Amino acid sequence: MPIVRMDPADTDAARACHDVHVAAQSADDPAEPPQSLQVFSAWLRTGWESNPGEVWFVPGEADDTAVAWYRIELPDLENRDRAFAMPVVHPASRRRGIGSQLLRHAAERASENGRTVLDTVTLQNSPGAAFARHAGFTPGLEEARRVLDLRKVPAGRFARLRETAAGKAAGYTLVSWTGVTPDEHLGRVAGAFNAMNDAPRDEGWEEDVWDAQRVRERADGILRLTDVRGYSVAALHDATGEMAALTEVEIDPEIPGWGFQGLTAVTRPHRGYRLGLLTKAAMLQWLAEAEPKVDRIVTGNAASNKHMIAVNETLGYELLEPGWQFHQLPVSDVR
Ligand SMILES: CC(C)(COP(=O)(O)OP(=O)(O)OC[C@H]1O[C@@H](n2cnc3c(N)ncnc32)[C@H](O)[C@@H]1OP(=O)(O)O)[C@@H](O)C(=O)NCCC(=O)NCCS
Repeated sequence: MPIVRMDPADTDAARACHDVHVAAQSADDPAEPPQSLQVFSAWLRTGWESNPGEVWFVPGEADDTAVAWYRIELPDLENRDRAFAMPVVHPASRRRGIGSQLLRHAAERASENGRTVLDTVTLQNSPGAAFARHAGFTPGLEEARRVLDLRKVPAGRFARLRETAAGKAAGYTLVSWTGVTPDEHLGRVAGAFNAMNDAPRDEGWEEDVWDAQRVRERADGILRLTDVRGYSVAALHDATGEMAALTEVEIDPEIPGWGFQGLTAVTRPHRGYRLGLLTKAAMLQWLAEAEPKVDRIVTGNAASNKHMIAVNETLGYELLEPGWQFHQLPVSDVR
């Protein structure tokens, strides 16, 4: 079975892998729409955080088709002992050993790049979960998904919640922007990204350390490569100018009914002042005006992240099952 490395400039191969993504998504996870071709192609090129990576695929019998693919992510700043890969096989070609061959191939690429641990993620109770169990992965962090159905939200809820939150958040000023991070906020956004290191994570992971230059070079990759619209709301601490909280949502114009929640972070000294609720309620008010077609927003949080989940449930988010589960396996144990 040929496993071919994708040339990042090969748009036909990207489209063939996207077809597999769409078929797999419809079969495994019909509750969420598949990624559009533009977002999928951009992600193949840069991943979500612009870590180096490679894409490998199994061509189909007809020209410009594929039956399976994976992207391996090879972080080069932290976690350089780890590689992340998630093989995807077209539903019509499963249970023939293709997933196992791709996994062994990914383990070889990981090993050749000096990695000792292979990470992956699956939907819970899915073919992927059964496959990961069969391959001997150790299950780790559970990531619960929630959806906010804006059609069910009573008028005025976000304004009320914002007002309540603002009452506990004296001394902070909200700022917002669309698109990539403005130069004036690069360093502050780095501080907010670093606050994500306090979110629950599996053992063995190093913290990502962001600074202004890394935000400039590596954040917002999808916004730079596509016409996805990014919305950011932040709370600045008046006394110090620090960014105390940040929340981000992305809208893909090709999936106009859905908003995809990115990170929400409140930095450590500023926790307990309702800044998560304040920034998220302000974001939802803004989106109601700026993106009137959006009627659902989807988010994921570690199932153990009680504070963030409480904020989301206050806003009206409801559980969307199944959730995700991360897994890891020593590269040398892949058979
Ligand atoms: C997971 C996935 C890649 C498996 O691809 P595949 O080509 O069907 O995998 P294989 O044929 O190599 O399966 C190897 C073994 O995994 C287990 N397995 C795979 N799918 C399974 C399922 N649906 N139910 C139960 N066990 C399953 C079986 O033990 C299987 O061996 P068997 O067929 O001899 O019983 C495919 O289902 C997929 O693309 N899922 C969506 C993406 C995903 O979750 N990827 C995560 C991979 S870690």
